[in-house]
Amino acid sequence: MAILPISVFGDKILRQKTKNVNKVSDELIGKIRNMFDTMRNAKGIGLAANQVGFSESLFVVDLKGVEGYEKFKPIVMINPKIVLESDEQTVMEEGCLSLPNLRADVERPSIIKIKFLDTDEKEVELEADDLFARVILHEYDHLIGKLIPDRVNEDVKNILKDDLKKIKNREVEIDYEITVK
Ligand code: NI
Repeated sequence: MAILPISVFGDKILRQKTKNVNKVSDELIGKIRNMFDTMRNAKGIGLAANQVGFSESLFVVDLKGVEGYEKFKPIVMINPKIVLESDEQTVMEEGCLSLPNLRADVERPSIIKIKFLDTDEKEVELEADDLFARVILHEYDHLIGKLIPDRVNEDVKNILKDDLKKIKNREVEIDYEITVK
């Protein structure tokens, strides 16, 4: 088990697009395991590879700890592609392990379809709604270098400005390991 330091706002890697995985190697399986450990240690429900310094296009999700999702099976999505987004949008408050202590309402499609590879390199397609769709869309954003502030309007972005600056300068109290500036 290894807990990796999590990149926070200001770290360049969060703005870099991840690269498609060609082969699910043992090394990659090890990375995925460490991502699950790191996410759980930080009490997160999703974590993208570039949040912990990896360049592969993949993220992990585990909603088991959320009320109503007790039967959720932890999942890793490799090379994910959103293939369908509902016109219907939902507003939900979001947080992010890379934006400690920050919360913001974000509007996103309510229902999505996503295609990805599992760890056996098998292509999987599934439909997700509610919180599951929300987390997938949030994590998918990480893989293309986008963060919550990119998904809110200018007014909200202005309100978040001070908090973002504090995060960048590590002037926040966090009970999990983050990268050193
Ligand atoms: Ni996030």
